[in-house]
Amino acid sequence: MILTVTLNSSIDKLYLMSSIQQDTVMRVQEVHNSAGGKGLNVTRVAAKLGEPVIAMGFTGGFNGQYLESLIAQDNVQCAFTHVQAETRCCINCWDLSTGKSTEFLEPGAAVTQADVARFFADFDAQLPMADAVAVSGSVPKGVPDDVYCQIIRRCKQKGIPVLLDTSGERLTVAAAEKPSFLKPNTDEISQLTGSATVTIGERIHAVEQMHSSGIACAVLSMGEEGALLACDNGIYHGQPPRIMPKNTVGCGDSMVAGFAVGFARKLSTQESFRIALAVSAANALSLYTGDFDPAEYERLYDAVSIKKVK
Ligand SMILES: Nc1ncnc2c1ncn2[C@@H]1O[C@H](COP(=O)(O)OP(=O)(O)OP(=O)(O)O)[C@@H](O)[C@H]1O
Ligand SMILES: [Mg+2]
Repeated sequence: MILTVTLNSSIDKLYLMSSIQQDTVMRVQEVHNSAGGKGLNVTRVAAKLGEPVIAMGFTGGFNGQYLESLIAQDNVQCAFTHVQAETRCCINCWDLSTGKSTEFLEPGAAVTQADVARFFADFDAQLPMADAVAVSGSVPKGVPDDVYCQIIRRCKQKGIPVLLDTSGERLTVAAAEKPSFLKPNTDEISQLTGSATVTIGERIHAVEQMHSSGIACAVLSMGEEGALLACDNGIYHGQPPRIMPKNTVGCGDSMVAGFAVGFARKLSTQESFRIALAVSAANALSLYTGDFDPAEYERLYDAVSIKKVK
């Protein structure tokens, strides 16, 4: 079973619009509501890959109840910590005439110290059953700066693999705690190493540095250029075939889900890498975030190429 942690959850509303103009009334053609926050994208993809998942984090109010009902439709068990504050909404307006999207992200209300303490009690109760833990995204106000460090420490004490995907200061702080898996993208890795990672040589060096700092499975995701993996067996470049993407948001989360499934099933790192590359490319072919067509996944699984570079 995979435990996912989404501390800053939201109801994500995707509005499909024929065009977007200002200063007028706009009618929405189609609405798609989903359980949002990066950890919930990981949750949906891992569940669709056939792995039991328990979703944790904070939910509150009617939006919180709605979020849990949405995620339950995807065969996911919920073990959220309920808080007084209403779960936020995030709106993505997609202009079909230009293919561009404009996002409105609500800040979300702060959680209290007591909420955080209850979350850790809930987390400690679920942790012994987990085969892998995936922690993703931002955190609401009121959560301590070292919350991800505390989660990583708890997992490591129990010998449970822990995967981390976050950004900014939180990434730098939590990376020092050495999660089992880290997946920065090309922007995030520069923040982490403090040096430019433009050439392939610089990128290989950066991922190697991450691995030698103590992160057993260090991955640098590079969008359509695939990903670099540094593990005890060496450094690999995984390349998906050329596709016509519909929506690449959540590709990184899908990659995390692929590795989480690999860890939970105790697969080899290369095998997990293949699943991760295939499912993240399949996510790019779906309009929805954290979603994929199983037939596309199967096709891409055979089509990705993995080469040892060092
Ligand atoms: N256009 C694409 N074609 C094929 N595969 C893709 C494409 N875009 C992304 N991927 C796959 O998804 C992986 C993760 O993508 P990316 O590096 O964009 O992550 P990210 O920036 O963390 O995304 P997000 O945070 O939105 O989930 C890539 O390493 C690649 O394997
Ligand atoms: Mg990402």
